[in-house]
Amino acid sequence: MTRRVLIAVFQQDSDLLRAVAAVRAAGWKIDDVYAPYAVHGLDRALGWRPSRLSWVCAACGLAGAAFMLWFQQWTSAVSWPLNVGGKPWNSLPAFVPIIFEGMVLAAGLGTVLALFLVARLRPGKKTLPIVPGVFDDRFALVIEETDATFDAAAVSELLRNHHAVEIEERVWEADSCSTGAAGGAAGSRSRRRLNYLLLLVLIVLVAANMLVPRNQAQPNREFLPDMAHSPAYTSESANPNFADGETLQPPVLGTLAQGQRRLPYAATDADALLAGQELHNPLPAGQAGVRERGAVVFQNFCTPCHGGGGLGDGPVALRGYPAPPSLVTGNSTKMPDGQLFHIITYGRANMPPQAGLLSPEDRWAVILHIRSLQTPNTSIPAGTKP
Ligand code: HEC
Repeated sequence: MTRRVLIAVFQQDSDLLRAVAAVRAAGWKIDDVYAPYAVHGLDRALGWRPSRLSWVCAACGLAGAAFMLWFQQWTSAVSWPLNVGGKPWNSLPAFVPIIFEGMVLAAGLGTVLALFLVARLRPGKKTLPIVPGVFDDRFALVIEETDATFDAAAVSELLRNHHAVEIEERVWEADSCSTGAAGGAAGSRSRRRLNYLLLLVLIVLVAANMLVPRNQAQPNREFLPDMAHSPAYTSESANPNFADGETLQPPVLGTLAQGQRRLPYAATDADALLAGQELHNPLPAGQAGVRERGAVVFQNFCTPCHGGGGLGDGPVALRGYPAPPSLVTGNSTKMPDGQLFHIITYGRANMPPQAGLLSPEDRWAVILHIRSLQTPNTSIPAGTKP
């Protein structure tokens, strides 16, 4: 199907606005208007209804926010529930920033995509301006010649009265309005070649990444290693600030830091046995609140590896971290409290030391909780499963 159109070119947006109003008042049909920028009041002059793109934007934003809410809920409460400092797993306030970012991202991308779909734009689509200069400083008004009675001369007369600088009649194949002959074919071919080259580079990089063997036993390469491992004074380079060259000075004789007891042990298994003979739990097991405190400490600091019931099935251990032995049936049932205290304080093999995280009281309290896990009839509910 072919259509005949009349194209008028203007130099001023005000001329265009007035011409649009006049053409509509005369009852002729406007096909479209082309301008190098958004002309204020043009859609009202054309009588077009407001764009529905903002509804698309709102819908995409809501979908993005809902997805991010679900995703965080799923990761932190269902797939990998790790207790962080005793906060609930589905801690909503912590989710807000990601929800917001997800909303903005989905709204932005969704709106652009919808615009491309509606305008039938795609990368590589060849279009020519309807008249030269319409991307620059010209305004084009396209009027459809609806039937045989269309009086092109009268319309041209009216348009010229509104300072149209050029008027032209064209015959269009249906749906080919602004698609011209393949312009700039050489340029688009070189662009396409560049894109293929970039795609190839991407594939090679990804493949190279997958081919490099991974060695789990080796630490990753470190960027600025001084940040993690600060240069320390050694026996060769003594600390010049102290007479004996040591940075860690023993406390002044006869003093103790507040709330601190120095343990005369080293982080060895032999000293753990020694501690088992010498140290005794100072907390009375029957005292109200002590075992409850132990249960809280255990849940917050030990369940990631040891599991809620102490079986060695915490979420971290289930996903590759060396699984600890069961605290319910393992060797620890036979160890005295003092030995457990040594292990918890100094760590052992893959068990990290907890002295920096837990006060001595909390370390003793958590031992009482382990004991109640080992003798189920006296145990209090562990609260939550891993
Ligand atoms: C990062 C994971 C991790 C955390 C957190 C952790 N442990 Fe361990 N724990 C281990 C591993 C692994 C072992 C086994 C160590 C070994 O192979 O000698 C272990 C061993 C132990 C043992 C000795 C068990 C035995 O039968 O020999 C005790 C007792 C213990 N942990 C108590 C605790 C307590 C109490 C907490 C919390 C305050 C805690 N652990 C936190 C990983 C962890």
